[in-house]
Amino acid sequence: MRHHRLSLCGEHLLPWVRAQVARAIRKYRMFGPDERVLVAVSGGKDSLTLWDILLDLGYQADGLYINLGIDGYSDASQAKAEAFAVGKPGARLRVVDVRGEYGASIPELARAHRGRKTCSLCGLVKRHIMNQAACEGGYAAIATGHNLDDEVAVLMQNTLRWSVGYLRRQAPVLPPEPGLARKVKPLCRVRERESAAFALVRGIDYIYDECPHAAGATTLFYKDILNQLENRSRGTKEMFYLNFLQAREQYDLFRAEREQVALHPCAHCGQPTTTPGLCAFCRLWVPPEQADDLASACGQADEDDE
Ligand code: AMP
Ligand code: FES
Ligand code: ZN
Repeated sequence: MRHHRLSLCGEHLLPWVRAQVARAIRKYRMFGPDERVLVAVSGGKDSLTLWDILLDLGYQADGLYINLGIDGYSDASQAKAEAFAVGKPGARLRVVDVRGEYGASIPELARAHRGRKTCSLCGLVKRHIMNQAACEGGYAAIATGHNLDDEVAVLMQNTLRWSVGYLRRQAPVLPPEPGLARKVKPLCRVRERESAAFALVRGIDYIYDECPHAAGATTLFYKDILNQLENRSRGTKEMFYLNFLQAREQYDLFRAEREQVALHPCAHCGQPTTTPGLCAFCRLWVPPEQADDLASACGQADEDDE
């Protein structure tokens, strides 16, 4: 743990990472000891590490795996999530199969919506299903496995573009709103290599491969640059992230943005959306001509966010 001037062996790493997670949950008031949490598990190291930690800390944490129907990737990652659940006392996993539930896999959906990026469609579908599962299941929060390196890379990307809308929603906790579950990132203070080391020492079997549609390409580029900065000046990543969080609190940076966003229930699924009519998710499943008609009837702009 070079940045903390710590050198931890396997035996001490586990309680140290668990303590970091427990502290983040308390500090950012993510959820209480009696609240139920839904952990979105991808079969990768971060989300399985997170699920393992939450269960060992005594939280009522169920898992949600979304099968996106990506050849050579989805079934293999589902198998990892299922194998973890089988071997872990108290772990209950729910699987949602996108093709079975809605009629098309993510690659099929991408073919039907040429011109839209697979990863952005996929993100939209995952967000919708996670929120629906959390609301229907009465969970206090949905937890994802984003780690510190993920958060810093996205922060850098959004800051370089001054994407205020995305920056506004980048936080360890997004509070609930009517129809929208609270979203939390309990690994936001844990580095990628700490999470990987944790999984290794715990013997958690996870999927090593990246999704073949690799949303990762840009993020990996930023992660690399940030690692170079970190090598020059230790603590840069953490400082960039933590000072951003502090500034957003202290100066209430996104107050004006927040006030502008008015949400309405989607005419089909009822989930909140920024414009009247169908939400961006429901519009994916109607033929484009019909979606255009619906959009113009409702005065909608074509956007990805719900
Ligand atoms: P990604 O967007 O792939 O970097 O994943 C970020 C987080 O989203 C993961 O740590 C998981 O918590 C969650 N996630 C990603 N893919 C899935 C999936 N197929 N099913 C459930 N949760 C997922
Ligand atoms: Fe969604 Fe790769 S995981 S496109
Ligand atoms: Zn909808």
